[in-house]
Amino acid sequence: KKALPESYTMRPLQRSDYKAGVLDVLKVLTTVGDITEEAWTERYDWMAKRGDEYFVLVVCDGSGKCVGTGCVLVERKFIHNLGLVGHIEDIVVNKDQQGKKLGLRIIEALDYIAEKVGCYKTILDCSETNEGFYVKCGYKRAGLEMAHYY
Ligand code: ACO
Repeated sequence: KKALPESYTMRPLQRSDYKAGVLDVLKVLTTVGDITEEAWTERYDWMAKRGDEYFVLVVCDGSGKCVGTGCVLVERKFIHNLGLVGHIEDIVVNKDQQGKKLGLRIIEALDYIAEKVGCYKTILDCSETNEGFYVKCGYKRAGLEMAHYY
């Protein structure tokens, strides 16, 4: 059955989600830094203006607290007949909420969005330790990630 646990909800990121703890969720993934609500809101507004490009979802528990999040970015190409490619980024579920299929539901929802907006594929980078999770979500190993850090 494709459902979230009772009382949990999934929805697009909202302007008020700084207060709902979305940055605390992201801290489970990596360094977030000390971001003020003003700075967060400025970035949120920038993304919201690009609503056909940035799709950020959150999962909240019954109290309204964010416990999971994920994003798909829609890249516009010239190749493949002006093709669109989805890029899945920053998938994370709070430690005490892992194993409840929240991550899987987030990926399913992001895949649905990417397909609906016309992407011919969706890609992502992950560590070997997360490969099994993405395989369960229907992804398969393709290519090799390279990075140049500045
Ligand atoms: N390796 C193998 N299988 C896994 C793993 C894993 N690391 N994690 C989950 N699974 C399996 C589960 O057992 C489950 O299998 P089942 O259907 O047979 O029961 C299935 O994958 C779905 O698991 P969920 O319960 O949906 O996973 P969860 O909600 O715990 O979310 C996630 C998984 C997002 C990886 C979570 O563990 C997490 O937040 N980790 C820390 C942050 C992180 O590494 N995020 C991914 C970064 S990569 C990126 O963002 C593109």
